[in-house]
Amino acid sequence: MGEPHPVSAAHRPPADHPATRRPPALRARALTRSFGRGQGALAALGPVDAEIAPGEFVCLVGPSGCGKSTLLRIAAGLLRPSRGELELRVDTARPAAMIFQDYGIHDWKTVLANVRFGLDIQRVPRKEADERARSWLARLGLTDFAGAYPAALSGGMRQRVALARALAVEPEILLMDEPFAALDAQLRTLLQDELLDLTQTTRTTTLFITHSLEEALVLGDRVLVMSARPGRIIAERRPPFGRPRTGEVRATPEFTALKAELWELLRGEVTGPGTGQAAPHQGADGSVPA
Ligand SMILES: Nc1ncnc2c1ncn2[C@@H]1O[C@H](COP(=O)(O)OP(=O)(O)O)[C@@H](O)[C@H]1O
Ligand SMILES: [Mg+2]
Repeated sequence: MGEPHPVSAAHRPPADHPATRRPPALRARALTRSFGRGQGALAALGPVDAEIAPGEFVCLVGPSGCGKSTLLRIAAGLLRPSRGELELRVDTARPAAMIFQDYGIHDWKTVLANVRFGLDIQRVPRKEADERARSWLARLGLTDFAGAYPAALSGGMRQRVALARALAVEPEILLMDEPFAALDAQLRTLLQDELLDLTQTTRTTTLFITHSLEEALVLGDRVLVMSARPGRIIAERRPPFGRPRTGEVRATPEFTALKAELWELLRGEVTGPGTGQAAPHQGADGSVPA
């Protein structure tokens, strides 16, 4: 016998080597969208070029009206691009799940029925659908509310129902449009921490839209910063926090520094060139003022 064979790790291509890289879960190429025609047409978005790797959690931040929701609606197949393309790579029959800012839950269905909704559409057998829905209710602290109607719930509870409903279908990709925007600061922090916990277990590919820099830095593997309308991606940062991660990263100097850096980038986009407006102050929660 000769020398022991060297451990193969040294020969393995690095994780970002083309040979090991899996195709992106989402890819936008020269994507633009405008509304209306002719003189009155409004350029809402783009051109945007972006990729999201499978299992990656990407946050998109940008000023109000820059085209964030438009991009998400295109990704969800609710809207067509004007030019360019957006591809979602879907391996299986698993759907993309979308969570809107205003929850999108059905007030005439019980909490359990809301969470089971996507499973019913997928024709998951009733018993299995019930079990899966109940286990998501349990994970989100909603067990006692299974038979309640959403109208009777607080904003935070309603948002949990929306989260449970989206996660219950075990989506291939999760598209979230400012899901916590309507919540007060404390509840928002709590739900961010819960979402961290849930998505780190499932490793679901996620595109998360927010206008809060803090939210983006806590949650994202990568943060994409958009310009004012028509929104283009003007910067990209990787928060230097490993996984699994907890909300404690908020208290680190790296967090504060990165937040300040991103705010500098966004400041000009919020006021807009040549508006003559003084730059607004950053919201206490790191939000970008509208
Ligand atoms: N269906 C639509 N028809 C006309 N204009 C639209 C429509 N949807 C969005 N817009 C306009 O496109 C721009 C981008 O909107 P949106 O994507 O909602 O921005 P954001 O989510 O970043 O706040 C805005 O000026 C908005 O008024
Ligand atoms: Mg929006």
